[in-house]
Amino acid sequence: MATFISHSPAETESLGERWGRAAEHGLVIGLSGDLGAGKTQLVKGIARGLDITARVHSPTFTLVNEYSGGRLRLFHLDLYRLETREQIVAAGLEDYLEPDGVAVIEWAERWFGEVRSPKSEVRSRPLRLAQMEVMSETERRITYEDFGA
Ligand SMILES: Nc1ncnc2c1ncn2[C@@H]1O[C@H](COP(=O)(O)OP(=O)(O)OP(=O)(O)O)[C@@H](O)[C@H]1O
Ligand SMILES: [Mg+2]
Repeated sequence: MATFISHSPAETESLGERWGRAAEHGLVIGLSGDLGAGKTQLVKGIARGLDITARVHSPTFTLVNEYSGGRLRLFHLDLYRLETREQIVAAGLEDYLEPDGVAVIEWAERWFGEVRSPKSEVRSRPLRLAQMEVMSETERRITYEDFGA
């Protein structure tokens, strides 16, 4: 488990940028944390690290935004409106667990369970889980761990 303290939105974005630059085909990144914790901010950085030039904003009317034109395709999922695992399963999102590119999932704990003990079905695949905590107005603690291959 690694910990990163971010002091600004730009620092959070830089962390994401490093993740995006290092990301390999098939990686799933699950993000947990309260409203305003900085999940979308991190995704903006991930997109930049993948050389995606489009502006990233959270999918609000759909569950998934897809960005191409970068080094790898990016799928950005936001599960906020799906409250139970049953709803997530019914939405037919399993394909994003083996993405043709990289998938980043906000509110991932609703699907995978808690960051420290994700459900066994996802542990065996290339997966990074991150928990983002609000420490102060501009400080965020980001703890993350890699699972699977
Ligand atoms: N260190 C920081 N890292 C990230 N965001 C920060 C930081 N400090 C302040 N912020 C602010 O916190 C907010 C984070 O918003 P963001 O949309 O990324 O959160 P979110 O976790 O995606 O929320 P939601 O659950 O509503 O989707 C932004 O307004 C950003 O400017
Ligand atoms: Mg968001």
